[in-house]
Amino acid sequence: MLQLESELRCGVADLTASFRYDVMEGLGLASKAIPARWLYDRRGSALFEAITLLPEYYPTRTERSILASAVSEISALAGPGRAVVEFGSGSSAKTRLLLTETEPSAYVPIDISGEFLREVATGLSHAFPGLPIYPTEADFTYPFSLPGEIASTARLGFFPGSTIGNLTVSAAVDLLRAMAATLGTGSMLLIGIDRIKDQDVLLPAYDDTQGLTAAFNLNLLHRINRELGGSIPLSAFRHVARWNAAESRIEMHLEATRDVGFEVDGREFFMSNGETIHTENSFKYGRRDAFVLLQAGGWNPIADWTDDQERFSVILAEQRPARAAP
Ligand code: AVI
Repeated sequence: MLQLESELRCGVADLTASFRYDVMEGLGLASKAIPARWLYDRRGSALFEAITLLPEYYPTRTERSILASAVSEISALAGPGRAVVEFGSGSSAKTRLLLTETEPSAYVPIDISGEFLREVATGLSHAFPGLPIYPTEADFTYPFSLPGEIASTARLGFFPGSTIGNLTVSAAVDLLRAMAATLGTGSMLLIGIDRIKDQDVLLPAYDDTQGLTAAFNLNLLHRINRELGGSIPLSAFRHVARWNAAESRIEMHLEATRDVGFEVDGREFFMSNGETIHTENSFKYGRRDAFVLLQAGGWNPIADWTDDQERFSVILAEQRPARAAP
């Protein structure tokens, strides 16, 4: 999904240029880092889908079960007749539940992949005959317009999966503000946010025994070699997942297991044994932290739900009415 996001924004030629730019910049840094969106080429996206089914990867199934038990309350709080607007709808897997229970007046799936979006919309229109569906091809991290058909309809935004956690806190606030502007006054947002928890749960979720997360991370090096003429020896790297307590985030890194030299796009790089390339952040939030994040993004939390181990939060928020300081 994220790969296609970049494709739409840039076009395929520009996409390669943008990938090259990020990789060359990132490998040139003293602390090497490459933006996480480049993990999602075709193979990376398939590996991520497989990760969501792993026993260690609790977020997907936990969020789904929270939604299943909270959906009638969500429906009562949101009220009938809203247009459900899903940001980064993908396969709309968790949406069916929401559409079944919330009596929406329309469904607007927003995704970067127009083709995938239309396929999913067709599937949903069979399951929900009579529900107007307006697939909207857009990169929601940039300003875009909602379909005119829902111009005067109240909206319920839906942003599941704790995708917000892959953004830095300031980028997350910017995105929440952009969503508030897009959805307009009187709108609500239902968002999934992963919680801070023990490392013995967090670390296996990002370093599973089957090695799928390792393959997902190392796939970035394959991609660099394939698309940018790289000569990175994959055998000289290993996947590392770390808990950064100060930042409250899981970090994925690719660590050199020996001194290694390689070329990318005709430029030479050298990494010493133990040096890493930082490839992803997955921020985790306490209940109060998540509320503050939403408030900073222009949203006022009105209800939240969690599982019995408090691993994941689903939060319903409404646009905070403008209010003078006391
Ligand atoms: C997409 N995102 C919410 C996932 C996460 O948990 O941060 C990406 C992921 N990376 C490794 N495993 C899953």
